[in-house]
Amino acid sequence: MEIDTSSFGTVDALARWDDAHLLDAMEARHSVRSYRDKRIDADALRELQSVIDGCNEAAGLSFTLVADDPSAFDGALAHYGSFRGVRNHVALIGRKGPRLDETVGYYGEQVVLAAQLLGLNTCWVAMTYRKRGAARTMPGEARPAILALGYGETSGASHKVKPVTSLCRVPGGPAAMPEWFAAGMRAAQLAPTAMNQQAFSFELVEGEVPGVRARLGLGPCAKIDLGIARCHFEIGARSVVALAVGSGAISRGVCRTRLTIGEAARKPRDSSGSRCRAARGSARCGSAR
Ligand SMILES: Cc1cc2nc3c(=O)[nH]c(=O)nc-3n(C[C@H](O)[C@H](O)[C@H](O)COP(=O)(O)O)c2cc1C
Repeated sequence: MEIDTSSFGTVDALARWDDAHLLDAMEARHSVRSYRDKRIDADALRELQSVIDGCNEAAGLSFTLVADDPSAFDGALAHYGSFRGVRNHVALIGRKGPRLDETVGYYGEQVVLAAQLLGLNTCWVAMTYRKRGAARTMPGEARPAILALGYGETSGASHKVKPVTSLCRVPGGPAAMPEWFAAGMRAAQLAPTAMNQQAFSFELVEGEVPGVRARLGLGPCAKIDLGIARCHFEIGARSVVALAVGSGAISRGVCRTRLTIGEAARKPRDSSGSRCRAARGSARCGSAR
C-alpha cells in the first residue's frame, strides 16, 4: 500500500487561528451525538464554509456543507448510533484513490477544529448514518465519512486515552523525547479515532534532520484516523518549534514526515529553558502525559 503524503504539512485551512486556540479546541472537543433544535448562526456558517472552501482548494476535495436537512440521520442506523436531532452535516467527499481516506482525515479534522472554535459541536461518522440522505458523490468520487454538526445538547464527555508512551516510539525511550515531539504527541493523543481505537503510532527518526514516521493501525477507518492524528501532531509540534513538513511517497502503511527544525528562537522559553507555548503555561512543557 502506498500513501503519498506530499501535499500534507501545512494545516492550511486553519491559518486564521493561532496554535494556542487550536490546541484549546482539541482539548474541548468531544464527540456529540444529540443536538439542540437550533439553526447554525449565519456568521458561523459563513466562516465554516470558508474553512471548507480552503480544504477543498488545498487538496482538491469536494467537502460539502449541508445545513438544515436531517435526512442523513433519519434512518435506523443513525438511531442505533444514538444520534438525535442532527440537522446539519459536512459530507467529506473526494476523488477515489489510495490516499483519499488519510486526506479526508487530515482536512476533515481541520473542519472539526474550526467548528469547535465557532461554538459548534461535531461527531465523525463513518458507519452510523443514512448514506442516501447525505450529500451526493459524483462519478469517481467517494465519501469515506461525514461530520455531524450543530449545537450540542451538551458539549460531550472526555474518554479514556492511551498514554503518550504507548502511542509512540522514541530512540532512547520517553525521557529522550524532544519537546516538539512530546507536544505533537500530546495533541495526537486527543485525536478522535473510530471506536476510540487509537491504533496509530508515531516514531521519532533521528538524524541531521529529524523525521517522524506515522504508522497505520488496523481497522476499517485506520487511514482516516491516521490523517486526523497527523493534523493534531503537526499543530502540536509546530506550536513549540517551527517546522516544515511533507516529503513524498511512503510505503507499507508507514508515512515519513520530514521535519526541518528552525527559527526556534521565535518561541518563548519557560524557566527551565525548554521552549513552550505562550498561552498555555510551562507546567506541561517537556513532560509526556
Ligand atoms: C473515522 C471515524 C469514524 C467514526 N464513526 C463513527 C460512527 O459511525 N458512529 C459513531 O457513533 N461514532 C463514530 N465515531 C466517533 C468515535 O466513536 C469517537 O471519536 C471516539 O469514541 C472518541 O471519542 P471522542 O471523539 O469524544 O474523543 C467515529 C470517529 C472517527 C474518527
